[in-house]
Amino acid sequence: MRQATVYIDSEALQYNLNRVKQLAPTAKIVSMVKANAYGHGVKDCLGALNATDAFGVACLAEALEIRALGYQQPITLIEGIFSADEMISVLENNLEVVVHHQPQLTWLRAHKKHYIDKGLKVWVKLNSGMNRLGFKVAEIIEVIQSLKAEGFTCVLAMHFANADADHHPLNQQQKDQFLQVKAACEPILASCCNSAAIFKWPELNFDFVRPGIMLYGASPFADRSVAELDIKPVMSFTAEIIALNHIQAGESVGYGSTFVSKNEMDIAIVSIGYGDGYPRAFPQQNYVSIHGQMTAIIGRVAMDMIAIDVTGLDAPLGTVVELWGKDRLVDDVAAANGTIGYELLCRMSARPIRKKL
Ligand SMILES: Cc1ncc(COP(=O)(O)O)c(C=O)c1O
Repeated sequence: MRQATVYIDSEALQYNLNRVKQLAPTAKIVSMVKANAYGHGVKDCLGALNATDAFGVACLAEALEIRALGYQQPITLIEGIFSADEMISVLENNLEVVVHHQPQLTWLRAHKKHYIDKGLKVWVKLNSGMNRLGFKVAEIIEVIQSLKAEGFTCVLAMHFANADADHHPLNQQQKDQFLQVKAACEPILASCCNSAAIFKWPELNFDFVRPGIMLYGASPFADRSVAELDIKPVMSFTAEIIALNHIQAGESVGYGSTFVSKNEMDIAIVSIGYGDGYPRAFPQQNYVSIHGQMTAIIGRVAMDMIAIDVTGLDAPLGTVVELWGKDRLVDDVAAANGTIGYELLCRMSARPIRKKL
């Protein structure tokens, strides 16, 4: 059987959740499990995250999957609902909505009594300069004040555009606007921290923090490793050597014959490719790990296979190769591919076998 495998380490997930608790001891934790728990598989992650206070997802379908698995924690739809009819499921499943534009307010108000009676909070989104979702400062104060007057419990919510960057000027603007609105709407619940902000700005933890990537043990920062942040990779992505070749100087390997050997070498073929979610475009040299030893990928990544250099290594047929995990960090694979760990994790395909550790 083809052995391309994704292992989910539940202990690492729990460890990372505890790190959030250490960093934000007074805030409730909304664990972000959108995009199938950042590609890790919701059903394999929710058990380890059971101590979380709530979940955050991007749409109704993701919330319904969590309810179908039997988890009863509050769930926030971080983009709110996309059409009026979704309010029925929201109420049936005790989901909390973000509101970021006027039509969503109308859809919510149409079910005002039912929503309030269920004790559900409304997350009102501030656009403080990211310019994706939300009401601008002047409008949001009015929106929150009228929602409160109607009996809704509101959470002022915001998302940073540059929490991973130390000196971006927008950070101060976003903080100032958030604090201004918060002050104008007191008493009000508040939430603005994703993973990077949880690490950097403990003073902004407020009532709810919304960690995503740190739960999965990848770094939100380009220049701070998971070891520095004291978080542990949750996903190990592995495959096996399925063929060995000895090639002479001048021979090429793989599609396009982009790699031409300068010397005699031993190469191994590993059963992994872009059909599994492993990225094909590597602007920089990329590596895999064999028992902790980094080994170069040679030639192009194909749909189902890659070739690696095993010259001088003890790597017989069946050897397990780590594409990313504890030794070869997903953040480093992403950097070699000109992207971020988030993207590689989220675009895992359904093909690899999934196992829980
Ligand atoms: C609104 C919101 N909050 C929190 C998060 C979690 O961010 P991170 O994965 O960087 O912790 C996201 C992720 O995109 C988000 O969109």
